[in-house]
Amino acid sequence: MIWLLLFALKVPLGLDTHIPVPDDNPLNPETVALGRKLFFDKRLSKDNSIACATCHDPKRAFTDEHPRAKGINGQIGRRRSPRILNRAWGKSFFWDGRSPTLEDQVVQPIANPIEMGLPLDEAVARLGISETTLRRALASYVRTILAGNSPYDRFLAGDRAALTPQQQKGLQLFRGKAGCISCHLGPNLTDEELHQTGAGRIDSGKPFKTPSLRQIAEAAPYFHDGSAPTLETVIDHYDKGEANDPEIRPLHLSPDEKRALSEFLKSLTGDIQEGLQ
Ligand code: HEC
Ligand code: HEC
Repeated sequence: MIWLLLFALKVPLGLDTHIPVPDDNPLNPETVALGRKLFFDKRLSKDNSIACATCHDPKRAFTDEHPRAKGINGQIGRRRSPRILNRAWGKSFFWDGRSPTLEDQVVQPIANPIEMGLPLDEAVARLGISETTLRRALASYVRTILAGNSPYDRFLAGDRAALTPQQQKGLQLFRGKAGCISCHLGPNLTDEELHQTGAGRIDSGKPFKTPSLRQIAEAAPYFHDGSAPTLETVIDHYDKGEANDPEIRPLHLSPDEKRALSEFLKSLTGDIQEGLQ
């Protein structure tokens, strides 16, 4: 919570000790600056056409407009590019949580034949850096991508006027009747656990990791396969409540309640900060 407060107050994070880091990869300005450069470097893809930032666009809350990721040669993957925000607090990575650390995760899109298609040994030879440096730099930069200072944060900090009455009603539903808080909780609105919500058209029977809901209103389409075009369709999905999870059940929300919930979700959009200033 401390970092959120710092961020809300616009204190430069500087050499931040609040962002959790592994012992062997502390944050330092040089590593973060290198990671930032690499994140925008198209040489990390086989045909020099795609950078991390192509799919994780800083102007779109670090995702893109495609329902499913579009890699080299126009190939389409099975999953939507997730927003990468406040990932330093993640417990596992990818929609299905199959990667245990950012150092493990960040190089996988490079070698993935559908995404960047560049074998790792070729990538490090091309850039003239070691694989360890590549992993540590990208992971460090990703850890500095922070979202906070939303109307919701200001409301929780005591500014009652930060949410409209309709959004406050939505917040009550989120915590109460709609039961969203049982998975979307804490500062990042996620328990970082896997659940089977029945969402999506591809692999809808599989469990997926609860995503953070920060900046959600500017990150359509939704779900692991981008199959929900709007927040309203997401809410309709939950309202039906068809899934093998005890927390998912029919909600019987009225049209007014659905509108309040979707207005509340819009209050989770604040500022994004990246890199070390
Ligand atoms: C072609 C689009 C594309 C490119 C390029 C790409 N990603 Fe991704 N990224 C995705 C998709 C899709 C997923 C989810 C894949 C899955 O769950 O199977 C993902 C997942 C992630 C995650 C996990 C987020 C979480 O919360 O679980 C991180 C971190 C990430 N990417 C960072 C990067 C970095 C760093 C690069 C550059 C080396 C990169 N990505 C390049 C599409 C892309
Ligand atoms: C049982 C746990 C659980 C509950 C309860 C729950 N969610 Fe989710 N939520 C998830 C998981 C897991 C995903 C990812 C599902 C997927 O993509 O297949 C998700 C995805 C989402 C997304 C899309 C995020 C994205 O990045 O695409 C939104 C928006 C959302 N939930 C809002 C809500 C709202 C609103 C409620 C209450 C009506 C709710 N959730 C209740 C676990 C839950």
